[in-house]
Amino acid sequence: MKNIVVLVSGGGTNLQALIDAQNRGEIKAGSITCVISSNPNAYALTRAENNGIETAVIRRRDYAAFEDYDSALTALLQSKHADLVVLAGFMTILGSRVIRAFENRIINIHPALIPSFCGEGYYGLRVHEEALKRGVKVTGATAHFVNEICDGGPIILQKAVEIHSGDTPEILQKRVMEQAEWKILPKAVALFCEDKIKVNGQITEIQD
Ligand code: GAR
Repeated sequence: MKNIVVLVSGGGTNLQALIDAQNRGEIKAGSITCVISSNPNAYALTRAENNGIETAVIRRRDYAAFEDYDSALTALLQSKHADLVVLAGFMTILGSRVIRAFENRIINIHPALIPSFCGEGYYGLRVHEEALKRGVKVTGATAHFVNEICDGGPIILQKAVEIHSGDTPEILQKRVMEQAEWKILPKAVALFCEDKIKVNGQITEIQD
């Protein structure tokens, strides 16, 4: 069984989708062993506690230098024996130390079809605001491995979602979560735990 450690910052609906998938027996070769938040008030922590999952908090602002934060997060993940790290709405940028320590073992969920509407500054509602502003007719979500380029790592799964006339960023965010994020994130995690994702440079091959 692989130890899955989930990093969160907010409401934690993607964490909930992972917990639900685990409870339905869909994550056969892994188990969520710890949830770590960048924010002590995140509702995601309550979701973890309600499901008997260990929690921890690590705040960027408690470290003067970014390098010290990067080292502390790496050490925390190693102390939890993480085999897979999942960024489920984690709003703090990761440093190179943690990324190198967990190469191709960190999965992020991004609320757009990468390489659209991604990179520095594209997070949360902002992503949907920009998609609506640009007038695209289709958006979606991407589950990908994390490397040192923001939203630039190998893509694992993507799912498209239609934009409707009259959509607000909030309405679109909800549709993208329901139709795409909450489906492809648990699926990507299950595939990883079963060693069904092969990575060759930028390209992943799914053996399903
Ligand atoms: C999700 O839409 C996730 O894709 C996004 O933040 C939201 C978190 O919601 N992540 C990013 O924008 C990362 N760049 P949640 O806390 O309810 O899972």
